[in-house]
Amino acid sequence: VRLTYRYIDLRRPRMQEILRVRHEVTRITRDYFDQHGFLEIETPLLIKSTPEGARDFIVPSRIYPGQWYALPQSPQIFKQILMVSGCDRYLQICKCLRDEDPRADRQAEFTQIDLEMSFVDRDDVLDIMEGFMRSLFDRILGVDLGDIPRMPWSEAMDRYGSDRPDLRFGLELEDISHLAARTDFRVFTEALAKDDGVVKAIRVPGGAASFSRKVTDGYNEIARTHGAGGLPTVKYTASGFETGIAKFLDGIGDELVTELSLEPGDAVLFTADRREIATTALGAVRLAAAADLDLIPDGVHEALWVVDFPMFKWDEDNGRWASEHHPFTAPRADQLEILESDPGRCVSDGYDFVVNGSEAGGGSIRIHNPEVQKKVFSLLNLSDEEAKSKFGFLLDALRLGAPPHGGVAFGLDRLVMLLTGTDNIRDVIAFPKTQSGGDLMSQAPGPVDAAQLEELRLAV
Ligand code: AMO
Repeated sequence: VRLTYRYIDLRRPRMQEILRVRHEVTRITRDYFDQHGFLEIETPLLIKSTPEGARDFIVPSRIYPGQWYALPQSPQIFKQILMVSGCDRYLQICKCLRDEDPRADRQAEFTQIDLEMSFVDRDDVLDIMEGFMRSLFDRILGVDLGDIPRMPWSEAMDRYGSDRPDLRFGLELEDISHLAARTDFRVFTEALAKDDGVVKAIRVPGGAASFSRKVTDGYNEIARTHGAGGLPTVKYTASGFETGIAKFLDGIGDELVTELSLEPGDAVLFTADRREIATTALGAVRLAAAADLDLIPDGVHEALWVVDFPMFKWDEDNGRWASEHHPFTAPRADQLEILESDPGRCVSDGYDFVVNGSEAGGGSIRIHNPEVQKKVFSLLNLSDEEAKSKFGFLLDALRLGAPPHGGVAFGLDRLVMLLTGTDNIRDVIAFPKTQSGGDLMSQAPGPVDAAQLEELRLAV
């Protein structure tokens, strides 16, 4: 009902306030980057596809029947080409369109604060963007973001089980593989026998009293949806370990208490599997437990950069490598030599900006050498012909004098969510779409006239 009569909904003071904050954010953005010599340049909406990992929206061409434009998933290639064009510092507040299912923090049509700079390395980009974030949070909320740590991806995964860790609370993941190896618990020993198998644990203060069977069953389910076989648990009381897997911990009990700094009344949750599964599953449980135990403080903003992402992730379904960021992200300079010999271990020069567990921005230093770009395309299983037909113009541009360059895009909607304290992206967009991608007020999408289809030579 709110979305159908959005004009009435928007009259509410809370919605007016959000619209005002959104306006302030774009104003501060333009001021800050203008002061730092950035030019605002528009890029086209009717383009050839730019892959950001989502499905394209496509638009039929009337003049070339049977040919299609794609709507931009982001201006990525255009902003890189602007660097080749001698526009050293670019800004655009732009619409991006990705045909994916909406979620609480995701819309098919959303807005980016899109930035690119020439003759920079990673720290140049991060420094200037940090200044921007600091002034944004200061001017809108009066909040000092403080030092913004730069955490390697592998550390974020190991300690928080997430590449966008929420640093507002503890409950860090501990690796207890060395202790687990000495138990007779099959779940632990079988996991450790796997390639890169680990056993991870979190100490939940006070969990012994508050975790009913129902609660732990819920966590078990969360762990399973992330691929873990289950979530062994145990309670620690004044008389030692109780319930759950207590009987398997006899030989390692004292060491477990010391390593996890356990106190009577705590609970311990474990995952045991290949590293990726064990960490992400326990990371998801960590978030649920923190919310249940009210460990997430109000009004606190914890920002960080996650850096040193892997270049690629293995795509099980298609049996090939896929980009962790996008195909134009450069490998870190010291990783070039293993790009082809060991792509799975190759670290990129990509980074994400994370606030309170939300990915508010992402970017990278780009590949500016056409030979390296071709190698990356080929690792992504793109044949020379495909690379040429899809990205020939980019490869040509790189060949004709491309400066080293890099940039970032912040999700404007997500920033406004953080700055106004809402957890639903629809609150920060004047005319958002529903969960199923519809606009209830104007009733889009809808049918078109037969004459329009005919003009486009389309049949449904
Ligand atoms: P990426 O795809 O990570 O990078 O997007 C950048 C930021 O945009 C926001 N975002 C979204 N917000 C709402 N709804 C969505 N569907 C959505 N998808 C992304 C997130 C994200 O961090 N071209 C690269 C950027 C670059 O490399 O410079 C890109 O688009 O906050």
